Amino acid sequence: MSRTLLITGGASGIGAETARRAAARGYRIAVNYRSRAELAQVVVADIEAKGAQAIAVRADMAHEADIVRLFEETERSLGPITHLVNSAGINGRRGRVDEYDAAVLANVFAVNVIGLMLCCREAARRMSTKHGGKGGAIVNVSSMAATLGGRPGSSAYAASKGAVDAFSKGFAREAAAEGIRVNSVRPGMVLSEMTEGRLKDAAFRASIEASIPMRRVGEAHEIAEAVLWLLSDEASFITGAMLDASGGGYII
Ligand SMILES: NC(=O)c1ccc[n+]([C@@H]2O[C@H](COP(=O)([O-])OP(=O)(O)OC[C@H]3O[C@@H](n4cnc5c(N)ncnc54)[C@H](OP(=O)(O)O)[C@@H]3O)[C@@H](O)[C@H]2O)c1
Repeated sequence: MSRTLLITGGASGIGAETARRAAARGYRIAVNYRSRAELAQVVVADIEAKGAQAIAVRADMAHEADIVRLFEETERSLGPITHLVNSAGINGRRGRVDEYDAAVLANVFAVNVIGLMLCCREAARRMSTKHGGKGGAIVNVSSMAATLGGRPGSSAYAASKGAVDAFSKGFAREAAAEGIRVNSVRPGMVLSEMTEGRLKDAAFRASIEASIPMRRVGEAHEIAEAVLWLLSDEASFITGAMLDASGGGYII
């Protein structure tokens, strides 16, 4: 079967690593980006240099019209979308509950939750056998924060990822008989643009590493491999699962 994979937040970090590795395994790739066309083009160029097909498509996950256009443009260029990875996500402003700002909360949920759910809606309309599709596989990038409420100051982010897990489970059950598998991957602390600023602080990094049973942070390729396995036919009987890729979890 010919395979087209759309990756939101595909220009950096876990999304970019997934894009590169998926292309090497025969997928055509749509790399979604929000603000950095150059970064997305680097990923596309790397994929094309290896003889695979890729496009970069701008779309902001906080805007429904952008999401609809993202799916339309991807299909126009690469054919039917068979696989989706929702990796776009933001931390929002860190802070305790007594410091919450409604606009910041709304933005975290708009990007991490509603944008992801709308991408799943667009995918379901295309993949579901009920709509004439041929099925497909979806992986939502959640977080270990969903399990313990996050590290201090991350409760809003953790709540958004908890919503991703609950949604993924419900969607998986709804779509299971229509040929769509839906799973989530929960990374622990991984070195990426999202975390590199804070991880440069040696004391902070040491405290993080001490809280992880494997005593180290993860790398984007270690998450990408978990995502790719769940996307693949090797995971054909797996739906509604949450796969922790976290070095054993963490203690706070
Ligand atoms: N790194 C970790 O420790 C860790 C742990 C657990 C879970 N995660 C999750 O893993 C996923 C990927 O994060 P990462 O670590 O790879 O960090 P990253 O490199 O910062 O990737 C996040 C990507 O999302 C994009 N994005 C943000 N807002 C967007 C929007 N409104 N519309 C479209 N794209 C948007 C960003 O693009 P712009 O820069 O252009 O906004 C960026 O390319 C996220 O969902 C994150 O919550 C990460």
